[in-house]
Amino acid sequence: MNIAVFGLGYVGTVTAACFSHLGHTTIGVDTDPVKVDLLNSGNSPVLEPGVPEMLDAGAADGRITATTSAHDAVHASDISMICVGTPSHANGGIELAYIEGVCRDIGDALSESDQPHHTVVIRSTVLPGTAARAAEILAESSGRTEGDGFSVAVNPEFLREGQGVADFLEPSLILVGADDEATGDLLIGLYEGIEAKRLVEGVRTAEMVKYANNSWHAAKVTFANEIGIVAQALELDGPRVMEILCQDTKLNTSAAYLRPGFAFGGSCLPKDVRAITHAARSMDVATPLLSSLLMSNTIQVQRVVDRLIELEPATVGFVGLAFKSGTDDLRESPIVELAERLLGKGFDCSIFDPDISLPDLIGENRMFILSEIPHLHKMLAEDPADVINNSSVLVVSKSSPEIDALLANRPADTHVIDLTGISADARVGSYEGVAW
Ligand SMILES: NC(=O)c1ccc[n+]([C@@H]2O[C@H](COP(=O)([O-])OP(=O)(O)OC[C@H]3O[C@@H](n4cnc5c(N)ncnc54)[C@H](O)[C@@H]3O)[C@@H](O)[C@H]2O)c1
Repeated sequence: MNIAVFGLGYVGTVTAACFSHLGHTTIGVDTDPVKVDLLNSGNSPVLEPGVPEMLDAGAADGRITATTSAHDAVHASDISMICVGTPSHANGGIELAYIEGVCRDIGDALSESDQPHHTVVIRSTVLPGTAARAAEILAESSGRTEGDGFSVAVNPEFLREGQGVADFLEPSLILVGADDEATGDLLIGLYEGIEAKRLVEGVRTAEMVKYANNSWHAAKVTFANEIGIVAQALELDGPRVMEILCQDTKLNTSAAYLRPGFAFGGSCLPKDVRAITHAARSMDVATPLLSSLLMSNTIQVQRVVDRLIELEPATVGFVGLAFKSGTDDLRESPIVELAERLLGKGFDCSIFDPDISLPDLIGENRMFILSEIPHLHKMLAEDPADVINNSSVLVVSKSSPEIDALLANRPADTHVIDLTGISADARVGSYEGVAW
């Protein structure tokens, strides 16, 4: 394939060098003639191990060149990859001027080209909706129609500076965002020879993934730092604590807990987050990330309260009261909190929890129900159908084949707010997920 690569910074240079290494012909484009001259003379415009060797090899067999002319590059290519910067405005917003400028340049070039179709790929980090904006600009400036004369896709770059070539050749994931199969196949095909998991998703999802990734990486760094400084204040070896944390690949360094949903609760997480942040405060150690966890959790509960107030249901049915499936532990259950807030606002509520039957409860949990939430226990139903078939809105936090079958056949006008992820069959009629 012939690929024009717009922007010869870290991403563009590594992209141009690595695709030429894979056997494609790449043409780097930059508005900065110094970078273009550097590349044309076999020198890398950025410091990245492995790039100079690839540039040498590419230059020797004519598979890598550079130009300041967008027109020439587009006319000589099947695909244009946009790798220009997307810096922050003073208010934090994303600056799209460079992306928009390149789209205009590509569109102008396409308006003078007899190439029937051109694929434009955004490799820069851009927010959902940017590819759609790029398509508008391309359509205006080229006079072509999206899907016919050109297509727009995204292919976020996951490289880390300093190991860009290694990250390109051995990526953690190849992600393509394409809204049509042909474009997805074309872009995945560019990576032939690289062993990695490949995913083709919708354009907007792929745009979002890059931000989810980087936010996750930032959260990981900050979390490790905060645990480190608390450990240090306690005269402990913070790096060792984190090393041990990473040894648990079942719950800690895994997909566990990483699915959007409702608030956390139970007898451990809230109590222990409170205890460690209290300990940090008492040692004058600031832990803003750890200290924000309970606040964020409370907001997640409030979101559902607000939504229910907005819906003004005659009756609210809770399917599930404990904080997660498979437990009858009601201590610090966010569903209990939710139910209590609704009761306080005068809502008519009923509750079914497959794990809670008062006659069978013993010990702490029975005591908790009878002493702390006696008003809620009076609303507990023994039969899920009583709740599912007699509520205007259902708040579902526990799912099972039996519950999902009842939900699938619920009265047509019963709205479901799903806090857990019920089966696809049960997501019929009036339905919304708490975070999806
Ligand atoms: N740097 C990284 O490690 C990294 C990793 C993954 C993703 N990203 C994302 O990739 C994008 C590019 O990052 P970067 O660090 O390579 O940027 P950079 O600032 O190093 O390079 C951008 C280049 O684009 C050129 N440019 C600007 N307008 C142009 C135009 N109209 N035509 C041609 N060239 C033009 C600039 O002259 C510059 O050389 C950003 O969105 C960034 O967030 C960066």
